Amino acid sequence: MKKDTIMVIGAGQMGSGIAQVSAQAGYNVYMYDVSPEQIEKGMKRISGQLFRQAEKGKLPHEDVKQIYQRLSPSAALDEAREAFLIIEAAVEQMDVKKDIFTRLDEVTEDSAILASNTSSLSITELAAVTKKPQNVIGMHFMNPVPVMQLVEVIRGLETSGETYETVVAAAERMNKVPIEVRDFPGFISNRILMPMINEAVFALYEGIAEKESIDGIMKLGMNHPMGPLALADLIGLDTCLYIMETLHEGFGDDKYRPCPLLKQYVSAGRLGKKTGRGFYTYEKQPT
Ligand SMILES: NC(=O)c1ccc[n+]([C@@H]2O[C@H](COP(=O)([O-])OP(=O)(O)OC[C@H]3O[C@@H](n4cnc5c(N)ncnc54)[C@H](O)[C@@H]3O)[C@@H](O)[C@H]2O)c1
Repeated sequence: MKKDTIMVIGAGQMGSGIAQVSAQAGYNVYMYDVSPEQIEKGMKRISGQLFRQAEKGKLPHEDVKQIYQRLSPSAALDEAREAFLIIEAAVEQMDVKKDIFTRLDEVTEDSAILASNTSSLSITELAAVTKKPQNVIGMHFMNPVPVMQLVEVIRGLETSGETYETVVAAAERMNKVPIEVRDFPGFISNRILMPMINEAVFALYEGIAEKESIDGIMKLGMNHPMGPLALADLIGLDTCLYIMETLHEGFGDDKYRPCPLLKQYVSAGRLGKKTGRGFYTYEKQPT
């Protein structure tokens, strides 16, 4: 196990962003995904991002290659044994994450920290599938990872102080601001954000206003940088739906009922920006 090596599980929009900021912080990074295409897309997304940063003068050109060389695409979860910190950013489904944590528990050393970038799922429940629940923690990055400052740090019931301190130090080394919360559905960020997005979808579903009007009202009237429907497209409508389902189930309160329109779009494969169509249509898919 190496103190300067991180493994990121999942090479989607969040996983690739986390891998990028980890490499920029000087860590060696393995980026694993079940899908080889996603790994390839993720690596391309990172190189595109780094070059854009260099062009804007935010990163010296000579650093781009060095940072990129710290990244290794990985087709084997076993390589997690080399990492002191594993950050899981696979799809927002408890069964998928439990399976990953069970396998990680087997291949990693006793002192390795297993973090999840989950948006809403219970860290305590994930930790319970491992033999080292004291090493399991939530490390919730925001989208887009290279831009957003916050990392919500979620302590499960058994998370140790040492695990917490290590993760806070890693987040700070990535130039992020960690803020601690307790382990309840949706934590703070999505307990507040996602019902607002869901309500915007209900307003559209009920025909109260056009999508552009809903987003325009929230941008111009509330000074939000983007409207809730455009934000849902950025997050991914599948992820939004999974989070609403977690809130609904976790609190048993119908105020968190996912809007039927959100469910319908997800069933249709209209997942937002990542598939080229959600509430809006995107000509160019993000690389
Ligand atoms: N999208 C956001 O704005 C946002 C923000 C914060 C946190 N998150 C959380 O980050 C996680 C990933 O979200 P995303 O937006 O990157 O999704 P995404 O759909 O872009 O990527 C998910 C990736 O997980 C991979 N995957 C699926 N099963 C896997 C497995 N068993 N092992 C390894 N990889 C697997 C998929 O191939 C895909 O590449 C979710 O838990 C989500 O809730 C998302």
